[in-house]
Amino acid sequence: MKRDIISVMDMAGDLEDIIDLSIKLKRQRYEQFPQFTNHVLGMIFEKPSTRTRVSLETAMTQLGGHAIYLNPNDMQIGRGETIADTAKVLSRFVDVISYRAFKHENVLELAKNASVPVINALDDLEHPVQIVADFMTVKERKGRVNNLKVSYVGDGNNVANSLILGTVLLGSDISVGCPKGHEPNKDILEIAEQIAKDTGSHIEILENPVKAVESADVIYTDVWVSMGEEKEKEQKEKLFRKYQVNNELVSHASKDFLFLHCLPAHRGLEVTADVMESLHSVVFDEAENRLHTAKGILSTVLY
Ligand code: CP
Ligand code: NVA
Repeated sequence: MKRDIISVMDMAGDLEDIIDLSIKLKRQRYEQFPQFTNHVLGMIFEKPSTRTRVSLETAMTQLGGHAIYLNPNDMQIGRGETIADTAKVLSRFVDVISYRAFKHENVLELAKNASVPVINALDDLEHPVQIVADFMTVKERKGRVNNLKVSYVGDGNNVANSLILGTVLLGSDISVGCPKGHEPNKDILEIAEQIAKDTGSHIEILENPVKAVESADVIYTDVWVSMGEEKEKEQKEKLFRKYQVNNELVSHASKDFLFLHCLPAHRGLEVTADVMESLHSVVFDEAENRLHTAKGILSTVLY
């Protein structure tokens, strides 16, 4: 049976193994793997991307395969060919498909109709591949991914949803600080609560950002305005002002906390330049680890 990665939950049984494999592949950066020869990744991007696109393509190339960037505006999908037919046709050509989509249900539809593995490269509900790189970075710095307090401050968006699932699966606690009405997805929180019963993790959703970051080992933030939400920019930038990750806010964290951001970042909005450039910030390691985890994920779904 093929292995899709649409949600962090699709890595529920082996998330830490994928992280460990990625750490190993980081040491073997330019090593090619014979099983990747002539293997092709088709990458559909409905939205812009720097890290996801370049990490996936570089990963395939370095492993010995190849990747094709597919812009829906240049495909028949942009002229009304269905996602189902596109999935069936692409499956006759390529060995694995990644899909960055506006709608989560479209990623599910593609996966349902593809006979090759489908990797969610971000949608409106989740960003599962990002979370593997985030926890890889945490493991490199802290030596573990369990028994930590992870704080997410800002919008309860796709990255927050995936981070919550990843944190509880790995046995750490998650505290989210966000304004009312911008909490993470309810269904995701329910799933996370169920997992937390087994792993002993605690989940808090708070309106107070200071409480959320108190004694945190990791502080994470993301943009206030995600791709596709541009109309809400003005209103959100006002509402989220007190959720900015700045020197005052991080002073409440543990003294050796790590600062993570999936990037792209907006200095002066969700994070200040001094926190971004501080010694606590590991955002560029985190970005680099997108490459190594892309290899870990591709190896896991293909072999
Ligand atoms: N973090 C992330 O997914 O970045 P891109 O939008 O550049 O791919
Ligand atoms: N939440 C952001 C993440 C970008 C990588 C977005 O969806 O635009």
